[in-house]
Amino acid sequence: MKHFRSVDEAGPDAIRRLLDLADHMAEVNRRPNPKVPALRGKTVCNVFFEDSTRTRLSFETAAKRLSADIMNFAVSSSSVNKGESLRDTIETIAAMGVDAFVIRHKSSGVPWQVSDWTRASVINAGDGWHAHPTQALLDCYTIRTALNRTNSFDGLKIAIVGDIKHSRVARSDISAFTMLGADVTLVAPRTLLPPETTVPVETNLDDIIEDLDVIYLLRMQQERMTESLVPSLREYTTRFGLTPERARRLPEHALIMHPGPMNRGVEMAVDPSELPGSVITQQVTNGIAVRMAVLFDLLGSGSNLEENE
Ligand code: NCD
Repeated sequence: MKHFRSVDEAGPDAIRRLLDLADHMAEVNRRPNPKVPALRGKTVCNVFFEDSTRTRLSFETAAKRLSADIMNFAVSSSSVNKGESLRDTIETIAAMGVDAFVIRHKSSGVPWQVSDWTRASVINAGDGWHAHPTQALLDCYTIRTALNRTNSFDGLKIAIVGDIKHSRVARSDISAFTMLGADVTLVAPRTLLPPETTVPVETNLDDIIEDLDVIYLLRMQQERMTESLVPSLREYTTRFGLTPERARRLPEHALIMHPGPMNRGVEMAVDPSELPGSVITQQVTNGIAVRMAVLFDLLGSGSNLEENE
């Protein structure tokens, strides 16, 4: 694989290979010194044109644990503010010797454009509403470990709840979960659904909650109120939020997931730290292992994971 830009482009074999590789990386991360020399001499550059806490830090940590050098391009203090184009910016950074770009941008498709301008590998860390493939990988890996699964999600019932229409996380998760065999249902007000969906839609969360193995909540973005796509946050919580009553109706083994950042009191109307099924912090931890897997798969040919520092 040269790039990791979307789940669909990578395909099921690569997704399974990366999940298996993430298991090795998780083992590295449990060592007292969680670092291997696998990517020594390689340079990874984070280019984030949109805000991020966990994704950017997670890629940075992943690169460091594989002994790669990491550059962080800070858009807010760069020549982008002087009007430099995306292409010139990428070509300038590439000229310094970069093996992989990790890119986040508000426009869909930017990772594909960037790969036309550089010989480096390109990893999509979120493009517009389109895709966020490493989030999907970490979500699959979290489900697989928490429910003691292999790479087959056959029979698993997963509901993705919230603003599906504007969510790159939802789009990538739908692809990855169904690729592994899960039954995915989307739960949202009609105004927050895309015009076409490949999986069933449900508008009443209470009709399905008792049958779920995984409930995946999306961030309810404040902007959606000003656009009048939902009447009020309170009403949203009443119909689609995870309230204490709904949490009690979930099966005992069911997982509660969220990509972060969460809006407490809106989609998450309970304290997730009090829910035994919440794997939200595991999602963050697993993000490092899956991003190590992606970086190693793209850049690590010829090196091995076993030798120590
Ligand atoms: C998401 C994103 O930015 O796509 N966050 C993340 O990467 N964990 C989801 C969101 O912003 O709601």
